[in-house]
Amino acid sequence: MVITLFIASLSKKIVMRDRPVLVTCGLPYTNGPCHLGHLRTYVPADFYARYLRRSGEKVVFICGSDNHGTPIVVSAEKDGVSPRTLSEKYHAHFDLTFRRMGVIFDHFGMTDDQANHRRTRSIVNRLIENGHVYSKVIQQSYCTKCKRFLPDRYVEGICPHCGMPARGDECDQGCGRHLEPGEIREPTCMVCGTKAESRDQEHYFFRLSEFKDFLIGYLDTLTGTLNARNYALGWVKDELRDWCITRTLHWGVKFPGRDDLVVYVWVDAPIGYISFTEEWAEQAGTSWKDCWCGEPTGITHFIGGDIVYHHCIFWPAMLKGAGYTLPSAVVASGMLKIDDKKFSKSRGNVIWVKDDYMDRGLHPDLLRYYLASYTAHNKEVNFAWNIFADKVNSELVGAFGNFINRALTFSVKNFEGKVPEGKIDADVLARIEETMAEVISGLEEYEFKKATDSVMTLADYGNTYFQSHEPWKLVKSDKDAAGSVLRSCLQIAKALVILMEPVMPAKMQNAWKQLGMPGEVSKIALEDALVPLDSGQSLGTPEILFDRLEEKFVKELEKIFMDRIKEAGYKGKGTQDKKIEEISFEDFQSMDIRIGEIKNAEAIKGSNKLLKLAVDIGGEVRQVVAGIAQSYAKEDLVGTQVVVLVNLKPAKLFGIESQAMLLAADVEGRAVLLRPRDAVETGTKVR
Ligand code: MF3
Ligand code: ZN
Repeated sequence: MVITLFIASLSKKIVMRDRPVLVTCGLPYTNGPCHLGHLRTYVPADFYARYLRRSGEKVVFICGSDNHGTPIVVSAEKDGVSPRTLSEKYHAHFDLTFRRMGVIFDHFGMTDDQANHRRTRSIVNRLIENGHVYSKVIQQSYCTKCKRFLPDRYVEGICPHCGMPARGDECDQGCGRHLEPGEIREPTCMVCGTKAESRDQEHYFFRLSEFKDFLIGYLDTLTGTLNARNYALGWVKDELRDWCITRTLHWGVKFPGRDDLVVYVWVDAPIGYISFTEEWAEQAGTSWKDCWCGEPTGITHFIGGDIVYHHCIFWPAMLKGAGYTLPSAVVASGMLKIDDKKFSKSRGNVIWVKDDYMDRGLHPDLLRYYLASYTAHNKEVNFAWNIFADKVNSELVGAFGNFINRALTFSVKNFEGKVPEGKIDADVLARIEETMAEVISGLEEYEFKKATDSVMTLADYGNTYFQSHEPWKLVKSDKDAAGSVLRSCLQIAKALVILMEPVMPAKMQNAWKQLGMPGEVSKIALEDALVPLDSGQSLGTPEILFDRLEEKFVKELEKIFMDRIKEAGYKGKGTQDKKIEEISFEDFQSMDIRIGEIKNAEAIKGSNKLLKLAVDIGGEVRQVVAGIAQSYAKEDLVGTQVVVLVNLKPAKLFGIESQAMLLAADVEGRAVLLRPRDAVETGTKVR
């Protein structure tokens, strides 16, 4: 009955009944192995697909690898292999790793496959026919030393919007905005470090600006997580410029009629969602059009929080312009941190799924549980080995596994290995029903933690129930009553296994067998959690479901991680650490650095990083835009002495002129202001 409610409320969002719901995950680039940060999106998407199926929906779960664009070309060049070879290698790696993690797609395609080339050409041609594309000569970064144009990741510089270091097409360390070719300030060639110059080049543009009203209306109806919709609405209302959709590269999908240009990777990558559906449908003997043509069909995109712009702005505009079905939901996950630090490959702050997790014999379901239960889906999730071990030991071993094992072992020993006669407690059934309702509302809200927590609460209830009814005493005084207690406990166990299967499929299948149930629990409807276990049904052999993680092992895992960070530190190859050359004392003296005092601090509309400050530098007050909003409350700054570089060339950030710069330590991207140890007179020179 609860489930019917779920389906009824879901169908408000999803119009069809017999057409499948398409669930997709952002496509991983094939330029490196799978790390924990990836799983932050794929694992929850897999729970969601499983829960939907178990509540009776038809679901197609689609993903694939993203093979084009400069991320791949740059890495292939470094490795001395072709982009195709590199892509095939990592494609196979992701495919296998996802399977090992229990993330089972109906199809896992490649964007470099023919189906995607065909579909991309067809969509681009349609956009051209419909008048949404025009050509224009623009100024592009060019490296005179490498003698080539510098698309996207070939160029590094400063974000024109927020002033943070950025790469060609994305402000990856600052405001997260998409950058158009030629927009980045102070461009340098990523390969040789030479200052880039600008040269004219003809490119093709998509008239994104004409989609403004459409997007505002569309985003209003978009479901999923609020972070996705609200960010996108903010950007659309702020400014929507036409979008350059071609690049000077050879690797990619050729732009129709131009042999020297390929389409931008963000054109053909999401089109992969369609072409992979086509590949799947062909094998399944159905039509991809059920998902991608006509009225909304419930298309749900799971993505990382860093690619909201592409999925909520570019993608729906393209689909609209070419006449395809629009996505119904975008579910954006918060980022993953490790030991509370921003994930970074170059800093060694990374955990590889295969080498560091699977190949060390850790069970995939433990990590799946961690990812589901640690935090709300749109919040940051922090991973640390000690927290992981605590969660496994106290929640999975101590509560969940312990309860199922106690209920089973006791029944096997005292009731000849069968589900005892007796009546299932009405309170127990009510608790199960309540849990089901919570699981379902958790899913509707994309709150996987809420769903998982409620199942864990049922396990706690089970432990308390067992403990307080003292069946070990009852069995001697009133065996019938003990039978009812155990039958009730086994019913709780059955519900736990059914409701937890989407999160821990392999472990729950094992538990299902221990309960003596036939077949696969992944095929059982969620509502069966309330169907009574038959008295007299044979139980299987109880086994320990989860093993404790011993401290010694956890220390080993921690050490591997710490060693990697140290090693990366020695190599010192942080991406934005430019080569620093010696300077003369005169060079140093040419910097006018003084002690200043912050007189006023204001927020800047549209930026959560920047503050507008008035800084007294000794008889003169300068306006300074500083990226410190996430480190300090503006009220706390007034009256603080700071160190100011006074003769830096003024620059505009968010349209506001910054006339000096505050010096700060860069702590994992967080600014910590420098200031004099003792109070000194404002305006004092620093030497
Ligand atoms: N490869 C991209 C990334 O890792 C994601 C592509 S998702 C798609 O950021 F929509 F383009 F397919
Ligand atoms: Zn920026």
